[in-house]
Amino acid sequence: MRKKIIAGNWKMNKTLEEGKILASEVVNMAKDELRDDVQLVLCAPFVHLGSLQSMLADSTIALGAQNCSNHASGAYTGETSATMLKSIGVDYVILGHSERREYFGETDSLLAEKVDMALENGLLPIFCCGEPLDVREKDGQRAYVQQQIEESLFHLSAEDFGNVIIAYEPIWAIGTGKTASADQAQEMHAAIRKQITEQYGEEVANNTSILYGGSMKPGNAEELLACLDVDGGLIGGASLKSRDFVDIAKSY
Ligand code: PGA
Repeated sequence: MRKKIIAGNWKMNKTLEEGKILASEVVNMAKDELRDDVQLVLCAPFVHLGSLQSMLADSTIALGAQNCSNHASGAYTGETSATMLKSIGVDYVILGHSERREYFGETDSLLAEKVDMALENGLLPIFCCGEPLDVREKDGQRAYVQQQIEESLFHLSAEDFGNVIIAYEPIWAIGTGKTASADQAQEMHAAIRKQITEQYGEEVANNTSILYGGSMKPGNAEELLACLDVDGGLIGGASLKSRDFVDIAKSY
């Protein structure tokens, strides 16, 4: 059975104190209100991860980073390696977010290296894919996403691929308040699962969690999460409010 995952992507938000308050609110609400078959993940800025790790240690909530280097170690000023993340208790790492692709020039081949680095160090990559608006307007979204997945992930063995989580995030829906309709999300998620089936077989495909991201909030989460091939969400803006984030997870 594939895991249901609700991951919060805090992006570059929150001071340490604010982040600790947010995390402790999520821990307390989750303990009282959530079923334990939904895995919550908090993907916080690098500098907060060490402090949050000790806060989350006794909870079922996992810790995630938002990026890692494609290099193992060495003279890469300002970079953070997958080994370092693992050493402080990080479990998940978001890779290939559209903001990293757009503002930091991350390419499919660079992301293939980052995915390798994450997996070699026992981190679970949340690999983001998704098309810009002009591609959607020309109905090119399936080919666009397929290429992202093929070029960054299909060099992996079936065993390694089994540790990858995919997040489909149409760029036109990120931070815009526009959400893909449940039909649009389901159609793309089913296409991604079919692509995985063709490459790795049905068992691997059925065990792969495919999350939806892009303006998911308490008001639309139930409909999106009810889709057969939507296995959770990657939540940006709404993950900055503990009540909204936990309510999204509750709508499963
Ligand atoms: P959003 O961001 O929920 O604010 O649209 C999602 C994401 O970028 O992961």
